[in-house]
Amino acid sequence: MLIINHISKIYNAGSDDEVRALQDVSVEVKKGEFLVVVGTNGSGKSTLLNLILGTILPTTGSVSIDGKTISHLPEYRRSPWVSMVFQNPANGTAPDLSIVENFRLAALRTGKKGLGIGNNKKFRQLVKEKVAALGMGLENKIDQSIGSLSGGQRQALTLLMGVMDKTSLLLMDEPTAALDPKSAKVVMELAEQINKEMGITIILITHSMKDALQYGDRLIMFDAGKIAKDLNKDAKQSLTITELLEWFA
Ligand SMILES: Nc1ncnc2c1ncn2[C@@H]1O[C@H](COP(=O)(O)OP(=O)(O)OP(=O)(O)O)[C@@H](O)[C@H]1O
Ligand SMILES: [Mg+2]
Repeated sequence: MLIINHISKIYNAGSDDEVRALQDVSVEVKKGEFLVVVGTNGSGKSTLLNLILGTILPTTGSVSIDGKTISHLPEYRRSPWVSMVFQNPANGTAPDLSIVENFRLAALRTGKKGLGIGNNKKFRQLVKEKVAALGMGLENKIDQSIGSLSGGQRQALTLLMGVMDKTSLLLMDEPTAALDPKSAKVVMELAEQINKEMGITIILITHSMKDALQYGDRLIMFDAGKIAKDLNKDAKQSLTITELLEWFA
């Protein structure tokens, strides 16, 4: 379980360009939940995800996962619990390295040795199997550099790498914003599968109202640094796109 406890984030505090990006936000996300986050531009969504990931620190408040407070830890020390997929497919992978080398890096990330990464043949086989399951034909290209793949292919691989090793929480910040509809669908369906089959908690930020309705089992809306709406599964299921659009009116 993830607990966001009275988090505030002020950028450039005390200066003329001070921004109160988050104002006393508290939220609990249950283990295995698929939480979708929507909200206007600049409402604080990415700030929240980056506070959980550890690329920024809160001004006040704390973040804990599975009973452990992590908000004071640097990003690399949170990696056993948290993975992130960004909007830009170029983020999160090493473009000059091959698919299999990128997977090796991902497997080494948390320092666990349970994946047979010492045995090259076994590891290659594992990567091939995982990649084949995407149905993108990438299993025959595992020695090709990641940088030579399309954005959709890279996002799908980033997602797979994010859950390669033990992780509790997968953060996705507009992961399909740069993708064509078909690639976007592959990525969203993979996220759903990761959530359902592996029980990994997901927080997804999206500006796609269609995705916000279709995926996930809880919907939160941010407005001006605060949570303006929080709908559970039942309320989300009966929400219409017209109602959702009215939130932004
Ligand atoms: N590093 C930073 N320094 C100063 N201000 C920042 C920084 N990062 C974000 N902000 C400001 O904080 C506010 C919240 O930004 P944030 O990126 O969290 O919004 P968002 O909800 O993700 O928006 P979008 O939908 O456009 O991605 C905005 O006013 C933004 O300009
Ligand atoms: Mg954002």
